[in-house]
Amino acid sequence: MARSGVHSIAVIAGDGIGREVMPAAIEVVEAVAGPFGFKVELTEYPWSCQTYTTTGHMMPVDAVDRLADHDAILLGAVGDPTVPDHVSLWGLLIPIRRAFDQYVNLRPAVLFPGVPSPLRDTGAGIDILIVRENTEGEYSELGGRAYAGTAHEFATQEAIFSRRGIERVVEYAATLAKSRSGRLTSATKSNGIIHTMTMWDEVAAEVVARHDGLEYRSMHVDALAARFISQPDEIDVVVGSNLFGDILSDVGAAIVGSLGMAPSANLNPERDQPSMFEPVHGSAPDIAGAGVANPIAQIWSAAMMLDHLGHPDAAEAILIAIRRVLAETTVRTPDLGGTARTAEVTAAILDAVISIDESETVS
Ligand SMILES: NC(=O)c1ccc[n+]([C@@H]2O[C@H](COP(=O)([O-])OP(=O)(O)OC[C@H]3O[C@@H](n4cnc5c(N)ncnc54)[C@H](O)[C@@H]3O)[C@@H](O)[C@H]2O)c1
Repeated sequence: MARSGVHSIAVIAGDGIGREVMPAAIEVVEAVAGPFGFKVELTEYPWSCQTYTTTGHMMPVDAVDRLADHDAILLGAVGDPTVPDHVSLWGLLIPIRRAFDQYVNLRPAVLFPGVPSPLRDTGAGIDILIVRENTEGEYSELGGRAYAGTAHEFATQEAIFSRRGIERVVEYAATLAKSRSGRLTSATKSNGIIHTMTMWDEVAAEVVARHDGLEYRSMHVDALAARFISQPDEIDVVVGSNLFGDILSDVGAAIVGSLGMAPSANLNPERDQPSMFEPVHGSAPDIAGAGVANPIAQIWSAAMMLDHLGHPDAAEAILIAIRRVLAETTVRTPDLGGTARTAEVTAAILDAVISIDESETVS
């Protein structure tokens, strides 16, 4: 674990554009380490769909033990058209989230100056923070299929919602909301999903009642998704189940310009096990190898990692650099309407970050 000022980071670039955006994030982390007074020791793990093709497993059997020795995990993306998506997801990402009890998945959706939103009217701007439950809910292994290949074939899939699971994620979101505008929205669907979602609503209301000064509302997820489009400036912190949080964060990414602008942190808030930081996007096979992936989500995820490791000033410097490049230059990848390559955007962010004075960060 961490020696003073030295952080041991596990790096899993994964597949597709994960391998293109990870070097960008590492360059930026290494550039801020010296000026902000810390060191990083990086250990790369080449686990990916290629590992699956050659060994039959996405990662080795002792992978979790090896990752446990690090202070944090920086992940790119996994997924390849030759491997079924549920194999890559359940073979790497989900086991890591669960093994280290990373029960909060924090997903910001922020519209930066200079980035066009597909929405005509973004009101006062977009600055949404989605708190997604990350270890239970709809993503469960319980269920099965029967009568395969017959007219009677069916499948069942059990969602798991525990009181403890709901309480702890809503508690995290409520505390976070109080540190921002005080507005917290819970995503529900208790009109249709009458057991798990009614329990979600009840437990969430109990947790929220223990907090003064919160402006709390519970919204059906379909209406909330529409609100993301019609009045995104009204929304601040959103807490949702594993599935609802996942879907809402892709909506969030779309309205702030691109999946390439959406970072995430899989947090173990108690900090007794490593947390994992990764972009919301996947391996993007349609653009993999072309050198045009937007590296900002990965770089921003690395900034969230530095914040978690106790360097909010370094994290903020990276955010200021991203903001400057987008606001003051035309250097941007094609997903944002530009013509720059991944390496050019990375170079511009590096240039900006090394010129940021410590006094410019408020942390
Ligand atoms: N966390 C993860 O590792 C993760 C998350 C989502 C999907 N996946 C996997 O990724 C693979 C592809 O999935 P998908 O196509 O549904 O989602 P995706 O996020 O990979 O791509 C969706 C679209 O967004 C674009 N895009 C994504 N990130 C971008 C970036 N940084 N810069 C520019 N454009 C970007 C892609 O080109 C594509 O058109 C699948 O195998 C899927 O299972 C992995």
